[in-house]
Amino acid sequence: MVKKIFSGVQPSGNLHLGNYLGAIKNFVELNNEEKNRCIFCVVDLHAITVSQDPKQLKNNIRETVATFIASGIDPKKSIIFNQSKVSAHSEAAWILSCTARLGWLNRMTQFKEKAGKDKEKASIGLYSYPVLMAADILLYDSTHVPVGNDQKQHLELCRDIAQKFNNDFKVDDFFKIPEPLIKKEFSRIMSLKDGLKKMSKSEISDLSRINLTDDKDTIANKIKKAKTDALPLPSTIEELEKRPEAKNLIGIYSSLSGLTLENSLNEFSGKNFSNFKENLSQLLIEKIIPISLRIKELLNDHNYLDSILTDGYKKADKIASEKVKKIHEIIGF
Ligand code: TYM
Repeated sequence: MVKKIFSGVQPSGNLHLGNYLGAIKNFVELNNEEKNRCIFCVVDLHAITVSQDPKQLKNNIRETVATFIASGIDPKKSIIFNQSKVSAHSEAAWILSCTARLGWLNRMTQFKEKAGKDKEKASIGLYSYPVLMAADILLYDSTHVPVGNDQKQHLELCRDIAQKFNNDFKVDDFFKIPEPLIKKEFSRIMSLKDGLKKMSKSEISDLSRINLTDDKDTIANKIKKAKTDALPLPSTIEELEKRPEAKNLIGIYSSLSGLTLENSLNEFSGKNFSNFKENLSQLLIEKIIPISLRIKELLNDHNYLDSILTDGYKKADKIASEKVKKIHEIIGF
């Protein structure tokens, strides 16, 4: 069976190690599997659910494409495009918002977190964000969606919307029910300053995350300053589970080196953090600096980056507009 992969990343700047290990690294693996059809979308419509500086947004769209390519996605093999260019996304999002139920959206924890206490002031777009996400996925008959753990609830909502639409209009199997692809152990990279908080681009302190454009010294400094506890590294997973900062750093080490958590623990159990942190810094520098340098290089070539988006747009638009035509027929337009 051909796996139809779809995923999206917001061009809101500061793409970080969480985005890389939770999502983009998996995009690369899926891109490299011969049979897959992969579509990776720069979700600019999602980005404007919170306010964006237009000039900066334009740069961030290019930087997101550059990050995909620098990480190893082959634009000849995968479709890379930006969401706003394919109008089917906005249209399908509206139609699906008439299928989605208010009660379902009211349960979305990401909206609650992002809107904070003053949710009356949040945009309507931030609230209906997951419906647009469902449109993204369903327009392409996607079978698999690689994401970090924080998107699990949105994918469940997408499945519910697809099922309800198929039932309401008695069109069995019209929308494919997608499977989330979430790497169990490394799907939630935490802040370097607080092992209980997700690493995020919106966190004020830059020391809380490794950005994919950080240089060597910045990476080393951030790891040096990363929060730890006072004990040496543990020897079992059970002990590790009780120590959020240690678990996060060992998780990052394992994911980058391709080792299991157990194997990483075998390497470092009983050792103190300063020894482990030196190894982690080295590994991060080895894996992230080539990406960082390549991003900077690619950002000098706007024509190349724009041509990838134009090429991707043509391919994506063809698939999505055909699906929208069918949706129109089904609902009686
Ligand atoms: P965004 O841009 O917020 O995140 C992009 C991807 O990075 C993952 N991620 C993380 N993974 C592990 N640890 C972290 N700390 C971490 N932070 C972010 C996210 O889970 C995501 O996979 N709503 C989506 C974008 C989207 C989308 C879609 C995804 C729009 N339409 C359709 C899949 C399919 C998002 O969170 O973007």
